[in-house]
Amino acid sequence: MPQVFIKTYGCQMNERDSEAVAAQLAARGYTLAPDETSADVVLLNTCSVRDLAEQKALGKMSAIAGVARKQGRHPVLGFLGCMAQSRGEELVQSGARLVVGTQKFHRVGEHLDSLLHGRETHIVDTAEEAGSQAAIREHLPGPGGQRPVTAFVSIMQGCNQHCTFCIVPATRGLERSRTIPDIVAEVRELVDRGVREITLLGQIVTSFGKRDYPVKDGRSAFVQLIEAVHEVEGLQRLRFTSPHPKGYGADLIEAFGRLPKLVEHAHLPVQSGSNRILKEMHRGYTRERFLSLIEQLRQVQPGIAITTDIIVGFPGETEEDFEQTVSLCREVEFDQAYAFKYSQRRDTPAASMPGQLPESVIEERHARLLATINELASRKYAELVGSTVEILVEGPSRRNAARFEGRTRTNRIVIFEGDERHRGELLKIQVERAGAFTLYGIPVLTGIDDEPTPALTALSHS
Ligand code: 5AD
Repeated sequence: MPQVFIKTYGCQMNERDSEAVAAQLAARGYTLAPDETSADVVLLNTCSVRDLAEQKALGKMSAIAGVARKQGRHPVLGFLGCMAQSRGEELVQSGARLVVGTQKFHRVGEHLDSLLHGRETHIVDTAEEAGSQAAIREHLPGPGGQRPVTAFVSIMQGCNQHCTFCIVPATRGLERSRTIPDIVAEVRELVDRGVREITLLGQIVTSFGKRDYPVKDGRSAFVQLIEAVHEVEGLQRLRFTSPHPKGYGADLIEAFGRLPKLVEHAHLPVQSGSNRILKEMHRGYTRERFLSLIEQLRQVQPGIAITTDIIVGFPGETEEDFEQTVSLCREVEFDQAYAFKYSQRRDTPAASMPGQLPESVIEERHARLLATINELASRKYAELVGSTVEILVEGPSRRNAARFEGRTRTNRIVIFEGDERHRGELLKIQVERAGAFTLYGIPVLTGIDDEPTPALTALSHS
């Protein structure tokens, strides 16, 4: 049976797409290889959001091709996803035999069969396909045959927002949503297989179903979906990413206070703290509107963790604009923020705007922003030392396989001495130490009757 190695770059959507491709190939009899060294097929699922991500994938592919050539091996090399969509045929010149775009993941298996049986020498498939948003559906069993505790569910594809810096509308196409019953059925199957936490995924999840489901009792299509998924018995936690701040209407904010499975974590990508830059970015909100959303969320859910994405060095960003971003971070006190250096993307409006900044300025501002973010986040982590938090145990720690890890509802990773019997459990942990974006602690033993111990009173605030 052919061995296939799949490597993923970029966002959780891409992770999910890769999982669906892997499940599709496994069902066709392929074996999933842990690395590229002996694989017959190497697929890189790519990201185009920044140039660095594209360069990484291109570099990796040429390194793999070089090593294989020296060893006299001829694996089928392929690019999938966003960069495959935007570069298409051009990737064949660099040695790829398979190029599959973002609406064709479900065709990877049949294309590979054609290549491996010699029916084709190379295939480029980047066309649009109606209904492809519903094709990302199959899941893999957990690693090592263990049941997965958490799962991603892709609810929509594409983006209509057209932020001026962003390549995604070109690589992922216009918004297309799945149906609510189809998504709920997938969630139910996952929960039946032991999954306890679901993350709903889309480029802008909050725009889910806008054209398909009219607002009902003041509730948007996305909130209708959340409510339907929330009903699934056995599901314990519900997350979603990534939303757009404009999607946090009164109905969604209210849902955070009402639906117990909806976790206390909201990701709100702000991108900049300067109204002038937000306008140039075509974000559709102001700094004041953004701050008011955070305030409303904290009113319904005081302990809610707020995370964000920020772009540093957008064309024309002045020192003053940048300082407004830093001051916004201090005002909000983000629990975590992902800071990105602005990267010119082809055919985006921002790429031809005046005032493109030199790399050195972007680097310097990025470093200053990171220092602020880290200072704020580490303070929040340090505050948790000594408290008791509830985690959902996911499995062996990714950093240290001898330990186990889980996450709080606020999405903080907690590492503890555990074993397989803890997998999938909700566990109370006394936090002993805070590292960089990680907490370390010991399980709190509760009595046989499971009466909460005094330490647990802090739980609802964690
Ligand atoms: N340059 C830098 N960062 C970008 N992002 C999107 N496009 C660009 C770009 N051209 C960032 C945004 C987005 C995250 C996924 O990637 O912050 O929220």
